[in-house]
Amino acid sequence: MSQVTITSLLKKKLNKEPFAVVTCYDAGFATRVEKAGIDAILVGDSLGMVVQGQESTLPVTVQDMAYHTRCVAKGASRPLIITDLPFGSYNSVEDCLRNATALMQAGAEMVKLEGGSWLCDSIVQLNRAGIPVCGHLGLTPQSVNLLGGYRVQGREDEQAEAMLADAKALQAAGASLLVLECVPKTLAARISEALDIPVIGIGAGNQTDAQVLVLHDLLGVTEKTAKFVRNFADGSASVEDALLRYRIAVEDRSFPGDEHTFT
Ligand code: KIV
Repeated sequence: MSQVTITSLLKKKLNKEPFAVVTCYDAGFATRVEKAGIDAILVGDSLGMVVQGQESTLPVTVQDMAYHTRCVAKGASRPLIITDLPFGSYNSVEDCLRNATALMQAGAEMVKLEGGSWLCDSIVQLNRAGIPVCGHLGLTPQSVNLLGGYRVQGREDEQAEAMLADAKALQAAGASLLVLECVPKTLAARISEALDIPVIGIGAGNQTDAQVLVLHDLLGVTEKTAKFVRNFADGSASVEDALLRYRIAVEDRSFPGDEHTFT
């Protein structure tokens, strides 16, 4: 088990100490992430795009996620390891339990799934099976075809209220963490304030309890990045230095700045 736990992250929220999370897909980079003192690694299905070169996360399989989780677990022992359940792998409670179990056996310590209150039954059953859960609301890339593109979510009042209600439902069902992606800063701040569990933002302003970025984006590997990304490799002497600068900027809330934030 990693040294960073749900309890230690919860304590950070209570103490109002923001923490950094980064995606990672292999052992070499996981070692650098650990050395930079980053608290949690997300083995994200973004690997479909940044590692496999796919156009979306949809082609990623449970086998892909298990392989990259095994690689990451070899490289780091301090950060908490969270792994995405990929597209189509949690459409029923049974599928969800079976696939989450496979990811935990590969080295994940928590699974992440995208969506709202319709996932509550699965979350209850995952917790019963000893599997911690991270929710994901706002822009949920596995639903890109339904959303009509990669767009900011929650700008209209009705959508914002629905997101807040979903966030509360996921927490009540047993989610231990929540990712909010591409959400206006004021809504993300409101949801973070309303929940007891830590809220991790990406493109959600600097008032969430934590931040996450895709490793290839923050290291300047990705050619075309979103507004919410900062290239921390610019002016850094090494990968570890870039990751360290990211962690410090999250901890002192200088990242994300207004230029990375949606209103
Ligand atoms: O897959 C991923 O990298 C993610 C983050 C963008 C939160 O889900």
